[in-house]
Amino acid sequence: MEAHFPMFTSQPIGFVSSPYKNTGEIPKGLGVKHEAEGVLKILPQFEAGLTDVEGFSHLFVIWEFDRSDGFALLGTPPFDNRAHGVFATRSPRRPNPIGLTTVELLNRDGLALHVRGVDMLDGTPILDIKPYLSSIPAEKLRRGWLAEAEARQKR
Ligand SMILES: C[S@@+](CC[C@H](N)C(=O)[O-])C[C@H]1O[C@@H](n2cnc3c(N)ncnc32)[C@H](O)[C@@H]1O
Repeated sequence: MEAHFPMFTSQPIGFVSSPYKNTGEIPKGLGVKHEAEGVLKILPQFEAGLTDVEGFSHLFVIWEFDRSDGFALLGTPPFDNRAHGVFATRSPRRPNPIGLTTVELLNRDGLALHVRGVDMLDGTPILDIKPYLSSIPAEKLRRGWLAEAEARQKR
């Protein structure tokens, strides 16, 4: 079904200050943990939207892969041996180049949210921030092809 109404045009609410200047510097691979600290610098016109954000330990950051090149519906991740559909991966090359990262909120200083767990490049545009809430018990989660790749790595 196609949309017969105008869709919204996104605008950044801020930009990520990250230690990573090149994609090669960002840790990758199975079981990788993102511990790098960064700052979500929110634009002044959105400051009121940060009211009460301090109460949350973790946030979802929705952002734009502004330096990815086109998209591929199938791709083989560097740490696997077969191709997967883009919607079964976290590939940067997506039809709508939107990234989603869960970060730990360390502290807020006005328009600056100091966070741990960034995996985006310095200067990445932020589209939205939402409190992280998960009500899905661990035993109900299935990890698809990733679980198979992890099991292979342990062998
Ligand atoms: C595998 S993606 C996962 C990103 C996010 N956690 C997600 O699931 O949507 C992370 C990779 O995206 C790439 N990347 C990070 N920031 C980017 C940007 N602003 N533009 C294009 N690619 C970016 C880097 O290669 C990084 O290792």
